Amino acid sequence: MSCSRIFVLFVYHLTLAFLLQKAFGAFNCFSSENFAANSPYESNVNGLISTLSTQTPQTGFGQASVGQSPNQVYGLALCAAYMSSSSCQTCVEQAGNEIRNNCPNNKGAIAWTNQNGDCLLKYSNVEFFGQVDNQNKVIYLNPNTAGNPEAFSRQTNGLLLQLSDQGSVRANRSAAGELQVYGLQKAYGLTQCTRDLSSSACKQCLEALIGETLPTCCNGKEGARVFSGSCTLQYETFPIIPA
Ligand SMILES: *[C@@H]1O[C@H](CO)[C@@H](O)[C@H](O)[C@H]1NC(C)=O
Repeated sequence: MSCSRIFVLFVYHLTLAFLLQKAFGAFNCFSSENFAANSPYESNVNGLISTLSTQTPQTGFGQASVGQSPNQVYGLALCAAYMSSSSCQTCVEQAGNEIRNNCPNNKGAIAWTNQNGDCLLKYSNVEFFGQVDNQNKVIYLNPNTAGNPEAFSRQTNGLLLQLSDQGSVRANRSAAGELQVYGLQKAYGLTQCTRDLSSSACKQCLEALIGETLPTCCNGKEGARVFSGSCTLQYETFPIIPA
C-alpha cells in the first residue's frame, strides 16, 4: 500500500527506478475532477471495468464507453501480446481492482499491473481514443550499466526503432526481436501500442519514448521498461517474453 503511494509520486515526476523482478504495480489518478460515491459516474466506471474484463481477453485489447453525457466514461485495457486469454483476464481484473482501490473517486485513472507490462487499464470522462498519451508514464530501470554504454544504447535504440516500424503496422501493434550486441552478449526488445492508435500514431508514440524518454532516463543501462498510456517498450540482455 505504501509502496503504491510512493509510486504515484514517481509517476508524476516521470522518473522511476526500481529493481527488477518485483511484482509492484503502478497507477496514476490523473484527472483534476472527482466523482461522488454511489454516483452514476461511479456505476459507469464499474460497468466499464467489468466490460473490459470480459472483452479484453478475447483479443488482448478492449475499448469501450459506458453511459451518457455528463456521466459517460471511456476506457481501454491492453494485455501483452504474448499473454494467454486466461492470464489476460486475471491481469485486467487486477488492474481494475488497483484502479478502484487507489483512485476511488478520480474521474480519470490508469494502472499498469506490474513491471513486465503485462497489462494496463485506463479510463477517463474525456474521450481519448486514438490520441497518443505519453503524459501518463512509468519507467522501470535495470540498475546495471552496460559494458559499453554508448554503443549498447545505440544498438538497442536501433532495435527498438526497428520493432516500432514492424509492430505498428500489425493488428496486435506489437513486435519482439533480438540482436547480438558485442561478444556473446545479446539484447532483446519488445514494443506494443494500444490498438485504438493508428499505425502512424503508434510509431509516433514509440519514437517519442525512444528519442525523448530513453535518453533522459535509461540510455547506458542494461535494461529498461517504459510503459505509457498508449505504448510500451522494453529492452534487456535476457529474453523478455516468458518461455
Ligand atoms: C503479433 O502479431 C504477429 C503476427 O502479425 C506475431 O508474429 C507476433 O508473435 C505477435 N506478438 C508479438 C509479441 O509480437
